[in-house]
Amino acid sequence: MRQLVYISTVRRGAAVDADAILAQSRRNNARDRVTGLLFFDGKRFLQALEGEDNVVTTAFARIQADERHYALVILSNRVIATREFGEWAMAYARPGEAADALDRVVRLTADADPAVRATFEGFAKVRRAA
Ligand SMILES: Cc1cc2nc3c(=O)[nH]c(=O)nc-3n(C[C@H](O)[C@H](O)[C@H](O)COP(=O)(O)O)c2cc1C
Repeated sequence: MRQLVYISTVRRGAAVDADAILAQSRRNNARDRVTGLLFFDGKRFLQALEGEDNVVTTAFARIQADERHYALVILSNRVIATREFGEWAMAYARPGEAADALDRVVRLTADADPAVRATFEGFAKVRRAA
């Protein structure tokens, strides 16, 4: 099983509808048994994808080709024994929920590898401070 974490930047001028991205993601991910967490602060996406090797690779190839964002940087790409982000077809946190975004991220990443967890917590903290 594979876990891939990347960060990207929303394309300026792109009509980014996070709800539409989520609906699309959840539909495909449920079909492919891909799970994970998407964090969006209005400017940057931080996403963890988990599932069988081939489906994660295929999903990421589609995501990478998506013109709604650019400058994708893979932060972590590792083999995992079990899912660390739970069974969510794609859990979601955003700054509109800023007050509890950090708590939510802490809960969602409770079982994640410490380095991956620190990435998500750092992202949530910086956004909260901004
Ligand atoms: C930040 C971001 C995250 C995305 N996450 C996923 C995802 O987890 N799963 C997925 O299938 N598509 C995801 N997408 C959408 C894909 O890029 C692509 O548009 C979609 O998979 C195409 O699916 P469709 O052919 O069923 O419309 C994401 C897009 C963006 C911009």
